[in-house]
Amino acid sequence: MREKERPVMPTDVKIKLGVIGLGLRGQFLLSILLNMDSVEIAAICDPIDKRLARGNELIGQQGAHAAVYADYKALLARSDIEAVIICTTWNTHVRIAIDAMRAGKHAAMEVGGAASLEECWRLVRTSEETEKYVMLLENICYADIELSLLHMERQGLFGELIHLQGGYQHDLREEIALGRENQHGRLNHYLHRNGELYPTHQLGPIAKMLRINRGNRFLTLTSMASKARGLNKWIRENKGEKYDLASAVFEQGDVVTTQIKCAHGETVLLVHDTTLPRPYSRNGRVQGTNGIWMEDGGVVYIEHMTLPDYEQHPYDPHQWEPYEQYRIKYQHPLWKSYEMQGVQAGHGGVDYLVLQAFVESIRTNTPPPIDVYDAAVWMSITCLSEQSVAMGSMPVPVPDFTSGGWVDRKAGARGKYSLDEVCFEFFDD
Ligand SMILES: NC(=O)c1ccc[n+]([C@@H]2O[C@H](COP(=O)([O-])OP(=O)(O)OC[C@H]3O[C@@H](n4cnc5c(N)ncnc54)[C@H](O)[C@@H]3O)[C@@H](O)[C@H]2O)c1
Repeated sequence: MREKERPVMPTDVKIKLGVIGLGLRGQFLLSILLNMDSVEIAAICDPIDKRLARGNELIGQQGAHAAVYADYKALLARSDIEAVIICTTWNTHVRIAIDAMRAGKHAAMEVGGAASLEECWRLVRTSEETEKYVMLLENICYADIELSLLHMERQGLFGELIHLQGGYQHDLREEIALGRENQHGRLNHYLHRNGELYPTHQLGPIAKMLRINRGNRFLTLTSMASKARGLNKWIRENKGEKYDLASAVFEQGDVVTTQIKCAHGETVLLVHDTTLPRPYSRNGRVQGTNGIWMEDGGVVYIEHMTLPDYEQHPYDPHQWEPYEQYRIKYQHPLWKSYEMQGVQAGHGGVDYLVLQAFVESIRTNTPPPIDVYDAAVWMSITCLSEQSVAMGSMPVPVPDFTSGGWVDRKAGARGKYSLDEVCFEFFDD
C-alpha cells in the first residue's frame, strides 16, 4: 500500500465500530471495547439470536445502545461505521474482511488459518485497491514475554537469529468433540482437514522477530502429521462407545510439525498439538549465535552474560538461567506503562493491547502493526501445510504476498504498538 500523509483523528473523537460474530470470543472482545473511551460500538451482528441478545445485554449493561443485525452485509451498509472487528468462525474471516473493505471500512480479524492461497491474495489485493487496512488480531504478539524477547533481540542479545520454534499446544479435546452441542466451529475442520490449523499465535511473534515482509521472507515449508487417536479416545471415555463420533475418522493428526525455511537461512519449527492430554505451552524457542531462550522451563542462556550482576554471579558456561530476571530487565516499555496504568482483562492483558493497536492505527491513519501482508503470509501457512501433509511432506513454496516489496520494505510506522522496533520515544520513563 502506498505510504502517504493521512489526516489524524483528534483523540476526543470516538471511532465507530461494528462487531461481527458473537461467540465467546466476540462477546469477550466486545466487553473490552465497551470499556474503551476512544470507541463507540455502533452495531453488532450474529445470525444466532441468543448470541445477538447476549451482545445486546453487554452493551445495555454499559448504559449504551447499538443496532443489531443477523446479516453482516446490512451492518456493512451503514455509512457511519469506520471499522469492524470480525470474530466469526475460521473460514469466514477473510470474506467478511474483503466485504468490509469494499464497503469502505477498515477490518480487524480474529486469528485462524487460511483455507486457500486465493483468499490470501484477494485479501491483499482488496486492501491495496481500497486503501483500507486489515489487521490480524494476533494478541500473542503483545504478550509481556514475547515483547521482552523482541526487545532483547533488537538489542542484539541473541546475536544473529538461526532457529525459532513455537507451538499451539493446547488440550482442546472437549471443546472440539462437543462442537455440535456448543455450536463451536472446530469440529468439522478436525474431521476433514489435516495440517497446521492454527499457526499464528506462535508464528506471529516469530515472524516479527525475523522481520518477515520487511527484509526477510518465508521461502518454503514442509509438514508432517502423526496419526489421530486423541479425540476418539476422549469421546469413548466421556460420551460412551455408542456416541456417533466415538469411531469417527478424524483426518487431523494429533501432532503436526511444520518446518519453514527463511530467505536468510533461518529455520522455524511449528508444532500443532491439541488433541492429546497435556498442559498448555507455546513451546517457544529463540536461538541465535549468542544464546538461546526456551519457554518450557522458563530459561535462557546468553554467552558471557549473567543477571542480575556479573560481579556477584560470574558467568557460568553451559548453565541455564531463569528467564524471569531478563523479562524484568528487558520488559518492553509498552508493558511497563501498561502495568503502571493497570492491566486489563483478557489472556493476561494482551487482548486489550491488540485492540488498542488497531484503534490507534485507525485514529492516526497509519497501517496497523500487523498488516495485510503479515496476515496473508501467517494465515497461508495453514493451507500450505495441508498441501505438504497431503503430498507426503513435500516442500511447498510460500508465496511472496508483497510481490517483491519485502526486499526493501522499511519498518512500519513508529509508535507505542510497533512490532518492528521498540519505540522508546513514545513512552515517559
Ligand atoms: N486470539 C485468541 O486468543 C482467541 C481466543 C479464542 C478464539 N479466537 C478466535 O476467535 C474466533 C471466534 O472464536 P469463538 O470461539 O467465539 O468461535 P464460535 O464458533 O464459538 O463463534 C463464532 C460466532 O460467529 C458467528 N458467525 C459465523 N458466521 C457469521 C457471519 N457470516 N456473520 C456473522 N456472524 C457469524 C457464529 O454464529 C458464532 O456465534 C475464531 O477465529 C477463534 O480462532 C481467538
